[in-house]
Amino acid sequence: MTLPPSCCWTGDCLELLDQRQLPDAVAFMRLHGWQDVAEAITSMAVRGAPAIGIAAAWGVVLAARSGEDLPSAIQGLRASRPTAVNLCWALNRMQAALASSGSVDVDALAGVATALHNEDRLLTQRLVDHGVSLLAQGCQVLHHCHTGAIATGGVGTALGVIAAAHTRGLLRHAWLDETRPRLQGAALSAWELGCLGVPCTVIVDGASGLLMRRGEVDAVMVGCDRVAANGDVANKIGTYNLALVARAHGIPFYVCAPGSSIDLATPDGDAITIEERDAEEITHVRCVSVAAPGAQAWNPAFDITPAHLVTGFITEFGVLRPPYCEVLSALPLPNQL
Ligand code: MRU
Repeated sequence: MTLPPSCCWTGDCLELLDQRQLPDAVAFMRLHGWQDVAEAITSMAVRGAPAIGIAAAWGVVLAARSGEDLPSAIQGLRASRPTAVNLCWALNRMQAALASSGSVDVDALAGVATALHNEDRLLTQRLVDHGVSLLAQGCQVLHHCHTGAIATGGVGTALGVIAAAHTRGLLRHAWLDETRPRLQGAALSAWELGCLGVPCTVIVDGASGLLMRRGEVDAVMVGCDRVAANGDVANKIGTYNLALVARAHGIPFYVCAPGSSIDLATPDGDAITIEERDAEEITHVRCVSVAAPGAQAWNPAFDITPAHLVTGFITEFGVLRPPYCEVLSALPLPNQL
C-alpha cells in the first residue's frame, strides 16, 4: 500500500492527514485558517518535526489569502509547539520571502511553501541513502517514536532508512519502541512499516536493554527535533535512555538529522525548550484512566541526548562523525534567522 502524504494544498485549503486517527482511519482534515493549522500542530494532528514545518508554511499562505496580519499569524504558528526547530526554519523562510517582496503576494508565498515541501522530499531521500550505507546485510535496527514518511514531506528519516534497508534486502528485522505516552511507535511506525511490508515488532520502551543484551540489535536509529551547535539532540522522551543503553552494549546510536533540524544558534541541549504536555496523556489511554485516582504525572515530550552518546548524524550531506561542534558549523546550512 502506498502511504498518504502528510499534507497537500488543494488550491484553497490545506488537506492534512490527521495522524491522531491512525492506525484506525486514514482521514484528512480541511484547514482554512492559520489558527486551524496552529491548533492541528498543538493537538498533534500533524506531528514529526519536518511535517510540522511544512504545515506551518501553508498556515502562512492561508493567513495571507484571508488578509490577516501576517506577523501575528507567524507568531501564533511559531508558538504552536516549542521544541522542533523545523517550525522556526519554515516560518523564517516564509518571513524572509515576505520581507523580500515588500508586499503580500499569496502566489509567491504558496511558491515558497511548495519549495519547502519539495526540498524536504529531496533531502529526506538523500539522507536515507546515506543512512542505508551504514547498515550491513542481515541487520536488526531499533527505532524510537515515529520518523516515517508522514512525519516529513518525503520518505521519512530514520524509519525511511529502515524501510529502504528492507527494500535493498539488508534488513532482518525492525524493533519499534511503542513510545509512551502517545504511542507513536505502536500506532504510526508499526502502521507505516506494515503498509510497506517491512518485518517489525513493537516492544515496550523498557525492553530495549534486554533486547540488546540478547544480541538482537545491530544499530539504533532515531530522528530528532533539534540538534544544538555542540551536537546535543532533542528528541522524543526516552531517546536519552535508549542512547545510554546502546552505549552500555557497544551498539551504534545514529541520529537522522535533516539540515532543517540543526540549530547552530542554540549552543547546547540545556538551551533547548522542552515541551511539557498535559498530564492526562500519561494518566489516561484513549480517555480511559490507567493511573490511581488523583495521581500526579510529569509529561516532558522530549529529552536531551548529549552529543558524546551519538555515534553519527545521518544528514542529507552525508554521515557526520565527531567532533560535532566543528563538523556541524562547517555544514552549508542556509542562513538561520
Ligand atoms: O511529539 P512528536 O510525535 O512530534 O515527536 C516526534 C519526534 O520526536 C520525532 O523523532 C522527530 O520529530 C523526527 S520526525 C522525522
